[in-house]
Formats: sequence, structure tokens, C-alpha cells
Amino acid sequence: MSASNAITEKREKEHHPVAAQPALSAMIAEFPTAGSVLAAATRVSEAGWSDWDVHSPFPVHGIDSLLRIRSTKLPWFTLTAGLVGIVVAFVMQWWMNAVDYPFWISGKPFFALEAAAPIAFEMMILFAAIATIGGMILLNRLPRFSNPLFASERFLRATSDRFFIVISANDPKFDHDRVMQLFQECSATAIETCLAIDAREGRWPSLVTPIIVVAGVLALVPPALIAQKRSNPTDLPRFHVITDMDFQPKFKPQRTSRLFADGRVMRPQSAGTIARGEIQLDSRLHQGMEYGSREVAAIDRLNVLPISAQGGPSVTSNEGVQKNPMPAVPPPDPLDALPWVKEFPISVTLKTMKRGQERYNIYCSSCHGLAGDGDGLVTRRALDLEQGTWIKPTSFHAENVRNQPVGQLFHSVTNGVRKMPGYGDLIPVEDRWAILLYLRALQQSRRADLQDVPTELIPSLQDLPKE
Ligand code: HEC
Repeated sequence: MSASNAITEKREKEHHPVAAQPALSAMIAEFPTAGSVLAAATRVSEAGWSDWDVHSPFPVHGIDSLLRIRSTKLPWFTLTAGLVGIVVAFVMQWWMNAVDYPFWISGKPFFALEAAAPIAFEMMILFAAIATIGGMILLNRLPRFSNPLFASERFLRATSDRFFIVISANDPKFDHDRVMQLFQECSATAIETCLAIDAREGRWPSLVTPIIVVAGVLALVPPALIAQKRSNPTDLPRFHVITDMDFQPKFKPQRTSRLFADGRVMRPQSAGTIARGEIQLDSRLHQGMEYGSREVAAIDRLNVLPISAQGGPSVTSNEGVQKNPMPAVPPPDPLDALPWVKEFPISVTLKTMKRGQERYNIYCSSCHGLAGDGDGLVTRRALDLEQGTWIKPTSFHAENVRNQPVGQLFHSVTNGVRKMPGYGDLIPVEDRWAILLYLRALQQSRRADLQDVPTELIPSLQDLPKE
């Protein structure tokens, strides 16, 4: 197929029969191979054309230099926006944290570069990314809904298997016949002229405007709904679009349910049953007594209040002491007469002791103090407040605590004693014993003399500074 045969003059008369002939926009020449387009581009370039372009399905080596493509300005957009992002982030954080809403946290400065750096970093990236995308769109003069070249059927093959040189009519040297001659000399397989799009065709596709209008109106609905809800308070539950896990078909403690005849959600234990893992057969371990509270109640020789099988005696046994004015000689505590164990029912090892120390510091030191003098942080704070309601915890070094059998101490820790709540539910049984082991060590530490110190440690002893 010779070049001249394939030349077609594309006129769009059928679209605008009465309109004046639209101006020429560009001329297109088609080439079959990368080699031929490169040779043609060399000629066009040497002939001194300036406003021309090559379209190929893939990058062709050497074209860039022929087209004299300058490197893009886009990195400057990125750099500028990134720097602006950093500055904005620092100023924003300084203003928010140090000026508008200063908030004193652990004595830290209101504004510091180190703390502000991560957000500055993020804002740098955010600004730079947006500016890069925006700059790319701007520099490419997008969005463009039409391009005169799209009118050519032939040109569509630029994305698959054909190569094109386009000389724009804006080139100062442009002249239809001259370009035609040039393309023919370059042995183009086809040459087309391309007409400028008239103003009406260059506008947005007709659907865009209605879509924008509809979307704009719909976008007003949520703010309108929010405004309506804000101005009309209601007793009904909130309107949930996404309920997540806000409503769960489950029972919560202390609630009612019609599922059960008595309406209670929390079910009492079925009579005669024990939950798995909760059986407490070893009275020494679980109650701190040589024989169990059941037997004690059965023997009844001590005339104590009934003791339940699971819980042990409740604190009620001492309430009388608080209600009545102190008698001159306090009545003997019936608890004192119970068969408390005097030995630890767990193995006494260094490991248990360490465990006990750790647990003691967690659970008990807040009130009783690290050394057991009854001067923990909570106690000190409560006494500072002088509200008159705080009972100072008993010192573990007091004689009556020192002399108590360990089983009785265990009972106090498990079920509570007078004002102190029980910790049986919080601390597993072995840990309670471990804590008591450490408590015993604390007591011992006050009364120890030189013989109790291992000989190798004696040289390291120091006199305490006199107060
Ligand atoms: C919330 C503060 C608080 C915590 C925590 C606390 N206690 Fe007490 N404890 C007290 C108070 C208060 C008393 C004195 C109660 C009274 O005399 O009414 C007391 C008394 C005691 C007694 C003395 C019992 C007696 O016969 O006089 C022992 C033993 C004891 N606590 C052990 C512990 C152990 C072990 C822990 C850690 C598991 C612990 N306490 C945690 C506040 C606390």
C-alpha cells in the first residue's frame, strides 16, 4: 500500500453541516515499525519542527532526545509541598499544645521537636503526595474529555501496534502542504489531518452535569439529618447505621430476664453441685484449719456462728465490737479458738517466697506498706484527706498479728477481717499462702539478730543512719 493511496482527509461535515470549516489542529502520520518512526522522527527533528510528538505503544529508544523532552517540574511540586507540610505540622502542634489548649502531662514540655516529629513526618508525606498527584494532573492539563486526535480511528492503534508522528498546527512553521510532503518523504503508511474540536464538543460529556447536581443534592442529606436530630432531642435509643456489637444477645450481671421463672439472670448454684475446679476438700489448704469448718460447725462446741461450707465464717462475728461501746475487757474472739493450722500447708521454698513478695507488693503494699507497717500509699493519702473514715491497717509487726497462727491470717486474707475486704476471689489459694510466707518474713526481719544473718553476708552489713 503506497502512502499516497492511504491518505484520507477527515472532514466532519456530517456533524456540523452548516458550521464553518473548523480549523486544522494537527497532522498525523502512521508508521509500521519502531525503526521507521525513529528514522522519520530524526528527519522531523532535523527539519527544525518544534511542536510535534511521537505516539508509540511502547517507549522507543532515542525518541526522547529527538523530541527534546525536558525533565519534569513535578519534583519541585513535591519538594515544596513536603516542606510546607513539615512547617504546617510543627506550627499546628505548637499552637494546639502550647497555645490553644496547653495540657500538663508528667512535667513534659508543652511543645518539643522530638514529640512533634512523627506528625511532621506524616504531614510531609501527605502534603507531598497530594501535591504530586495534583501537580501531575495540572501539568498534564487534565481532566480533558476530548482530544482532536481521538477523532481518528487509525490513531487508536497507537496503544497496540502502530507508531505515529503528530505535528501540531500550533507550530509556527505549520503548513498543510509542507507537512504532507515531509510525511510522504518519510514514507508514512498513512497520513491524516485532524480538525480542531469546536467549543461545544470540547465540553464535558452531557451526563456529567446532572450527575454532579444529583450528588450535590444527596450530599446535603446527611448534614440535614444531623441538624434535624440535634435540634430534636428524643428519648428513643440512638439511630444506629452500623450497630457493630452494641446490641448483643447476652445476659449481663444483675439484670433481669423472663427466661427464668424467678426473673434473675444470675443463677444460684444448683444444690449439691460444685463448679469444676472449685472443690475444696483440703481444709488445711483452703480454710487454714486442721479440720474443716463443717466439722467445726458439727461439733459446735465453740458456739461460733454457723460457718458456710464454701465461704468460711463471715465478718459478722466481729460486728458487735464495732456497734457497742468497748467493754473494759473485750470478749474473747470466737475465731481465736478455731483449730487454725500453725504450719504452712504449701512447700516453703525460695521460689514461693519470691512469688509471695511479688504478690504482696501488688495486692497488699498499697495499704499495708512495703514493710508491713500499715503505711502504704493509699493509707497515707487517705490520712492526708482527713475524712475520718479510714481505718489504718494493722501493722504486721503488732503483737496480736505476730502471735496469730498462720491459718487465722489466711482466713483474714481470704474472707476479710473487720474493715478489710477479703481477697479470696482475687488471689489464688497458693498465692495467698505465698503472700503469708512473705508476711512472716517481714515480721521476722524486725526481730532478727546477728545470728539470723548468713555469715558470708555479715561483712556487708551497714549501720543505718541515725534519724
Ligand atoms: C484496701 C486496703 C487494704 C489492702 C489492699 C489490704 N489490707 Fe489488710 N488490712 C487493711 C485494714 C484497713 C486492716 C485493719 C482492719 C480493721 O482493723 O478493721 C487490715 C488488716 C489486715 C490484717 C490484720 C488482721 C488482724 O487480725 O488484725 C492482716 C493480716 C492483713 N490485713 C493482711 C493483708 C494482706 C495479706 C493483704 C494483701 C493480700 C492485705 N491485707 C491487703 C487494709 C488493707
